[in-house]
Amino acid sequence: MKIAVLVSGSGTNLQTLIEQLHQDETSGIKIAVVISDRRKAYALTRAKLAGIPTHVVRTQDFANRLDFDAEISRIIEHSAVELIVLAGFMKLFQPPFVQKYRNRILNVHPTLLPAFPGAHPVADTLAYGVKIAGVTVHFVDEDVDSGPIIAQSAVPVLDTDDEESLHNRIQVEEHKLYPEVIKWFAQGRLKIEGRKVTVQ
Ligand code: GAR
Repeated sequence: MKIAVLVSGSGTNLQTLIEQLHQDETSGIKIAVVISDRRKAYALTRAKLAGIPTHVVRTQDFANRLDFDAEISRIIEHSAVELIVLAGFMKLFQPPFVQKYRNRILNVHPTLLPAFPGAHPVADTLAYGVKIAGVTVHFVDEDVDSGPIIAQSAVPVLDTDDEESLHNRIQVEEHKLYPEVIKWFAQGRLKIEGRKVTVQ
């Protein structure tokens, strides 16, 4: 199965997907293309080092967000991918894009959703004072971080944590959970009924 990975930043999740899926022949999964909305995203370097084609698609180069989404869709169609994997991609898609790829877009978010959606999830987790943080892998729908949840993993919040130390521990779990969920998808094991996702 061919997948597209969309990134905005450092790309530690992308690196895990390269090593655990793309470079593991037994996975049956290839990253056909990496798309970034930021030219300077280090994730692009990681993709290039692995020999994966990259594209930069920036919102400021388009008249509106529908045109931005359309360009991403054009690249995806050209690469003939079956799954779109958001890995630290910090842009929201407009409803037509989500509807076109319904149940074929995955996202990883560094909280136990529906707690702390949005752009500052780890800071919000610490500020609220919860004792258990975590990671969620979910399908993308029309709202922010709100689609059907596929898998979650919990991480304790320590009294000594700052945003960096907590995010680092959450990322250790992300790097285990995300490749696993993508394998389940590729094996056709995810059953979706309304908001409820089960692993067959
Ligand atoms: C990850 O922790 C991911 O959960 C988060 O961005 C980070 C990207 O790290 N995503 C979101 O907050 C999406 N709402 P990476 O670039 O090292 O993979």
